[in-house]
Amino acid sequence: MEFAIKSGSPEKQRTGCVVVGVFEGRKLSPSAQAIDAASRHYLSEVLRRGDLEGKLGATLLLHNVPEVPADRVLLVGLGRERDFGEGAYRTAVGAAVRALRTTGASEATICLTDLALKRHDTAWRVEHAVLAVSEGLYRFDRLKSKPPESKRALRKVTLHVAKRNEIAAGEAAVERGVAIAEGIALAKELGNLPGNICTPTYLAEQAEELGKRHGMRVEVLEQKDIEKLGMGSFLAVARGSHQPPKLIVLEYQGGKRDAPPVALVGKGITFDTGGISIKPAAEMDEMKFDMCGAASVLGTLKAAALMKLPLNVVGVIPATENMPGGHAVKPGDIVTSMSGQTVEILNTDAEGRLILCDALTYVEKYKPAAVVDIATLTGAMVIALGHVATGLFANSDPLARELLQAGEIAWDRAWHMPLWDDYQDALKSNFADFPNIGSRAGGSITAACFLSRFTKAYPWAHLDIAGTAWKSGSDKGATGRPVALLAHFLVKRAGGPQLGGAVERR
Ligand code: BES
Ligand code: MN
Ligand code: ZN
Repeated sequence: MEFAIKSGSPEKQRTGCVVVGVFEGRKLSPSAQAIDAASRHYLSEVLRRGDLEGKLGATLLLHNVPEVPADRVLLVGLGRERDFGEGAYRTAVGAAVRALRTTGASEATICLTDLALKRHDTAWRVEHAVLAVSEGLYRFDRLKSKPPESKRALRKVTLHVAKRNEIAAGEAAVERGVAIAEGIALAKELGNLPGNICTPTYLAEQAEELGKRHGMRVEVLEQKDIEKLGMGSFLAVARGSHQPPKLIVLEYQGGKRDAPPVALVGKGITFDTGGISIKPAAEMDEMKFDMCGAASVLGTLKAAALMKLPLNVVGVIPATENMPGGHAVKPGDIVTSMSGQTVEILNTDAEGRLILCDALTYVEKYKPAAVVDIATLTGAMVIALGHVATGLFANSDPLARELLQAGEIAWDRAWHMPLWDDYQDALKSNFADFPNIGSRAGGSITAACFLSRFTKAYPWAHLDIAGTAWKSGSDKGATGRPVALLAHFLVKRAGGPQLGGAVERR
């Protein structure tokens, strides 16, 4: 997909389709008004007939609009003007793209980027238009034997800005949007691949590929290396699987040689059966998504590299399946983690924390400026926050605030959960230092408490993406979250949005 930025009169665009917005009550946006005026009030006339009220996400495609050189005009409902915010904006652009797909237009000019939006500038609107377009066009069909029939595909989208002096900022925002969209697409693709293809070995190969293409150092530690490191907790989870585990390490060096890096640690369970504490059959297929944390690390590194962010980032991914079997770890087994702490595994289905804890100890060697782990860790997180917000836990309030803010800007939001000492009492074992589960109450928090016992050496945050990494039901599929949040976190850490090397004035 090609993106361009343009200012100038919407009514004079010579393109396959011009997209303009209509608020509820048939109120035309400024761009729509311009087209209306040029076309002897053709739009007003159509609206008067009642074909589009302006409900958010509704669309109406018009052909042969008088005096307008574009082949088509697409009207998009924006909802109530008073309620027009980030979510409505993204929905409107998404609806426009979905409607565009059903037309033969190969080019379109979207005049929604010029709409006023509280708290956000043109750059924000452009970046999010790029993301919404990419989201609307994404399909996972590489495993269908026949590619689904498609119309002449949309290949160029021009985003309209109100003033000429917004073009430079708009172009920088396109670059940022494209980089983040590529990262999201990678995360979705890996998430959507089934467990028989996306194995730990496959993830390691993809990491190596990514490293080659973007000049990152990649190291894949094998079973024997992992044994040497003393990662008894990680290896306990891998025991039941016939697929060899991998510890994948990527280093992106965009900053000064010895500037402390940000470390991203992603849960890479390529399939979670639960192990001996086996899961029920219903929806177990969705446990192929249990490596979405890992996928988001790869996606974020890709975005960071495409944006050439001037900072250092390391990605660490413990990858394995969680399977039952004769060699599998059993409830009651006690293992020694790389940190030296012993863990009584009371439930083999609480495996994410068991592989993460060793990876979190491993990253100490980088003396990281901050560590963020990303994991589809607990079903309880879905109960607590549903599919809207990612759960955020942290041992550092400033780091938590950075991530919350990044989530707001990226419109990939997180919610701060408590990690108070009071919750630590849930983790008591008669036989080892502590067990890998607490009681059912506050399950996401006690999981975070478990991880906190391995993250004392640095500022650390944990993102539980169990509810946000994928969608169930008829549009089942990976969402690519929280790549956008993480990418913005890194953009900010790298000194803010850059414009051709200079810091952009916003
Ligand atoms: N991968 C799951 C968490 C999960 C479950 C994510 C459902 C999304 C939907 C994780 O490994 C797991 O099984 N967690 C257990 C922990 C429990 C045994 C303490 C859970 O949440 O049930
Ligand atoms: Mn599990
Ligand atoms: Zn899991």
